[in-house]
Amino acid sequence: MPVKNRFAELLPEITAWRHDFHAHPELDYDVHRTAGRVAELLREFGADEVTEGVGRSGVVAVIRGRNDASGRMIALRADMDALPIHEATGLEFASTAPGKMHACGHDGHTSMLLGAAKYLAETRNFDGTAILIFQPAEEGGAGARTMLEDGLLERWPVQEFYGLHNMPGIPVGQFAIREGGIMAAADEFEITVTGKGGHAAKPDECIDTLLVASQIVVALQSVVSRNVDPLKSGVVSCCTMSTDSTAHNVIPQVVKIRGTARSLDDGVRELQAKAIARVVENTAAAFGARAELDYHYGYPVTSNHAEPVRHAAEVARAVAGDVDTDVAPMMAGEDFSFMLNERPGAYIFLGNGDTAMLHHPEYRFADDAIPFGASWLAEIVEQRMPIA
Ligand code: NI
Repeated sequence: MPVKNRFAELLPEITAWRHDFHAHPELDYDVHRTAGRVAELLREFGADEVTEGVGRSGVVAVIRGRNDASGRMIALRADMDALPIHEATGLEFASTAPGKMHACGHDGHTSMLLGAAKYLAETRNFDGTAILIFQPAEEGGAGARTMLEDGLLERWPVQEFYGLHNMPGIPVGQFAIREGGIMAAADEFEITVTGKGGHAAKPDECIDTLLVASQIVVALQSVVSRNVDPLKSGVVSCCTMSTDSTAHNVIPQVVKIRGTARSLDDGVRELQAKAIARVVENTAAAFGARAELDYHYGYPVTSNHAEPVRHAAEVARAVAGDVDTDVAPMMAGEDFSFMLNERPGAYIFLGNGDTAMLHHPEYRFADDAIPFGASWLAEIVEQRMPIA
């Protein structure tokens, strides 16, 4: 079973939705135009139920199969939000909102899931219930968690979650997946170092906060290299350092360091958090300064479940002819992780070809990947809830 023929027919229509979403990017939870259009189209397709405002601005559609005897309920999820980036693609349907851009291809994800919805509502060639989830605020706002907190699973008790993300560097028409961690836990930290400011010509009367902060940045490089098992993965990056002074002749009183810690399993995540705290506190103490660590746990590891990965890969193989089942994980974060922590499921990469990377101002979603992604989504429903 290659790409479904219906999606070749629907391609111009799905592409038109995609270009419309692309021209009108919206951020975080403020995806009201997008969500409104999504709900309108879902009703037009004949979805059995369309609920807006789930998790503030998410949309959930219910499409019942030809039979409903199996009691099965499978969810497909897409994200709708854009990024605060100024678009530089020069496309004729480029962003009309300065400083906002669909630079992660969520316009493509939303459109492909709409395409799958149209097909599923037309054909209903499955036994069970398909739940289609369009979520806001994937880019840092934890929209998936907000939808779960808004009773997603109580209102629609789905048994499995499936989602996809386009991926530059993988050829169009190919899929890639792996069991276990495929996207990282993405935590943030802020370190506030307090010394004793004063005249730069009298360092003996100060505790040089900038020197202490610099030692902390250097010492933090040992967290991964000297603490994490070399066969596992971790990242600790210090990304900003700022002081309360702009003068060339003042030793600052306070220095702030901000950064991120990434990992692919909970053990490494905890180990890094503890090691960062130890290094920060004791390095400051060694210089007679004080340091406070504010460690914020962000998105958890996106961890693919074994059995759903097998189904996802089988469907990808059917659609694309082949599938990479051992793709390298990415150290970026993804809030689909919250859904996979609640129910079994799988998250797959869809090839986007040789384009600029995600979150780049010249990134372009590959419209010719649409039939593959939409086919995979629809086929997951048909394969996981076959008519007996
Ligand atoms: Ni994304």
